[in-house]
Amino acid sequence: MIDEKLEQSEPLSPVVSEVEAKILAGNFGTPVFGYSQDILEEQANKALAFPNAYGITVRYAMKANPNSNILRIFDQVGLHIDASSGYEAERAIKAKILPGKISLTSQLIPGNGRKLIEQGVNYVACSLDQLEWYGKFFPNSDVSVRINPGKGSGGTKRTNTGGPSSSFGIWHEEIPEVLTILKKYGLNMTRYHSHIGSGSDPKVWKKVAFMNLENILKFIKAGHNINTANFGGGYKVGRMSYEKSTDLQECGEPIKQAFVDFAKQTGVELKLEIEPGTFLVANAGALVSRVVDVKSTPKYKFLITDAGMPEITRPALYGAQHPISIVQVFKSFKKECYIVSGKCCESGDILTPAKTNPEKLQPRLLPEAVVGDLVVIGGAGAYCSGMCTKNYNSYPEAAEVLIDKEDGIRLIRERQTLEQMTQNEIAVV
Ligand code: LLP
Repeated sequence: MIDEKLEQSEPLSPVVSEVEAKILAGNFGTPVFGYSQDILEEQANKALAFPNAYGITVRYAMKANPNSNILRIFDQVGLHIDASSGYEAERAIKAKILPGKISLTSQLIPGNGRKLIEQGVNYVACSLDQLEWYGKFFPNSDVSVRINPGKGSGGTKRTNTGGPSSSFGIWHEEIPEVLTILKKYGLNMTRYHSHIGSGSDPKVWKKVAFMNLENILKFIKAGHNINTANFGGGYKVGRMSYEKSTDLQECGEPIKQAFVDFAKQTGVELKLEIEPGTFLVANAGALVSRVVDVKSTPKYKFLITDAGMPEITRPALYGAQHPISIVQVFKSFKKECYIVSGKCCESGDILTPAKTNPEKLQPRLLPEAVVGDLVVIGGAGAYCSGMCTKNYNSYPEAAEVLIDKEDGIRLIRERQTLEQMTQNEIAVV
């Protein structure tokens, strides 16, 4: 009956053992996110070892997962923060991150923007209007500018943030206009910013890095003291065992050499900044859920779980692939072919879509499951808890726990209550 190519079962996420998955479900209920402190720290250290010629700052793109505990873990190992809204910046400050360690790159001028900058947050102007705004309030100061270098690359078209189809940053051909505004307000551009997409092809990333250096040269020639080049995040992370991750050493080495050559040519020793989100958290998180029903049609067998779009939207949005493992209550060695479905009244709430095509279903071969078995979804640390279809069907935000060898399993966010969900409603009828 099933003619699609079968997706095979994947190994259990390294975040939880079978026993830990059962403890999480038993102690905190399902669905529940688990994060491994060890893996978070390991990834942070790998990012800090990114090849560089004259120093590096690694900023955690906190949009990937903004829980204050994760921000603090990264702060303790020496990462800085990339915030994408005034709210994120304020949230990081609330988590005791020093404002001077936060860079703010936003599509809109935040209402609290002036206050944040006065506190020491580093503002990145992402449009000519944003630059005018900054110049009016902070003339004769240092500023950072985000440029769209004219080329981008993403895991899917929806995560590509460079090139003519992307509104992020200032189009590179408008550098003369940027220079005019910088001059008008006596601004000194000290940091160049660009981010070309999520899940970028490393070859494109490298090519764009060279294009960025050419742009930086234009600003230096116009008299600006650029000392830092921020080349964004976007490093590819394989969540499935067959998906290839970007090797940061391999990706960064040619750029390190390019910075050395740039210094020889210009006398300017550029400090490198990168701002990964996915790389730091994706495989440090797993979502533990439960089988709540098993149903069949003549075409498919569906495994319904109590997780779905309110916890993990990526499969429905991008056709993203996440490893799915079954932790059985009673061991059975039989395998079965399932479409794993979320809990929402929404036919798009599917956890096993075809790769990059959420319109199409992709059955997966899994151990036979019954109601009550656990379903562990791996690669759920990035853009899951933080990017959910919040409260759709009035499902509460899931609980989150941190798993650490020394400190054990600790709750870092309680499951939302119905009361919290409706607390801002005003009854006028
Ligand atoms: N810097 C800037 C300015 C960004 O906009 C982003 C991501 C990053 C850094 C971090 O990118 P990463 O290393 O996480 O790829 N929701 C999508 C990803 C969209 C990210 C948007 N910006 C996903 O689930 O894959």
